Amino acid sequence: MTRRVIVAANWKMNGDLALVDSMLLGLKDLESSNVEVIICPSFPYLSELNQKIKAANLNEIIHVGAQTVSKFFDGAHTGEVSTNMLNDLSIKYVIVGHSERRSVYNETSEQVASKVHAVLKAGLSPILCIGETEEERSSGKIESVLMSQIQPVIDEIGIKNFSDVIISYEPVWAIGTGNPASSAMAQETHYFIRQLIAKQCDQVAANISLLYGGSVNAANCEELFAQPDIDGGLIGGASLQAEQFKIICSAAKGK
Ligand code: 13P
Repeated sequence: MTRRVIVAANWKMNGDLALVDSMLLGLKDLESSNVEVIICPSFPYLSELNQKIKAANLNEIIHVGAQTVSKFFDGAHTGEVSTNMLNDLSIKYVIVGHSERRSVYNETSEQVASKVHAVLKAGLSPILCIGETEEERSSGKIESVLMSQIQPVIDEIGIKNFSDVIISYEPVWAIGTGNPASSAMAQETHYFIRQLIAKQCDQVAANISLLYGGSVNAANCEELFAQPDIDGGLIGGASLQAEQFKIICSAAKGK
């Protein structure tokens, strides 16, 4: 397995049916390339988006992902959505452990690990989000914070299966602020994450895809993606505009 280059859109709780249409219109000329393009809308739009991607013959190029999922297989869990349901809709990717899920909905790293496990068991690809707050960075806790988010997942699924996980490093202070990590700082942290994983398995560290997320836009994506340990991005605000998102997808080509 080699490192995959991925650009994923996280629409968060934004967008509507009109955005589904305008996005696909804007991306209709996106060419097939080495980049796996993924769009993650809210649950109600998953099916519509997937069907419209197929109808537009873009299904080899654009894939659909969910923004979270239940750790349970089925049963009395009102409001939850299972991996089985995503599979039923041919949704193949799931964002897990986004910082907004951790901070607003109190998801613990152990719960996130259970979700990653459920996602892999169902044959889907998890995009595991990790990242430190500004205070954690300034107080020198980056290593312990990132390890506390990574290790429970490795303990749950085993280091060999960890290469099937896509990691998105999203420093909390860079999300939605318009202030991304500098490309040098992002590269340094991605390298550091790879070294942390290498302590447990060199091969997994070399093959795992590490995306960067946090205020990526059309103007800064090229420099971020040029960094050797950055394998693409998880894009919030800029992924709601087809023109910007297309530029970001194109910037990852040829990595
Ligand atoms: P922004 O690109 O809006 O900063 O959001 C990043 C993010 O949280 C993607 O998951």
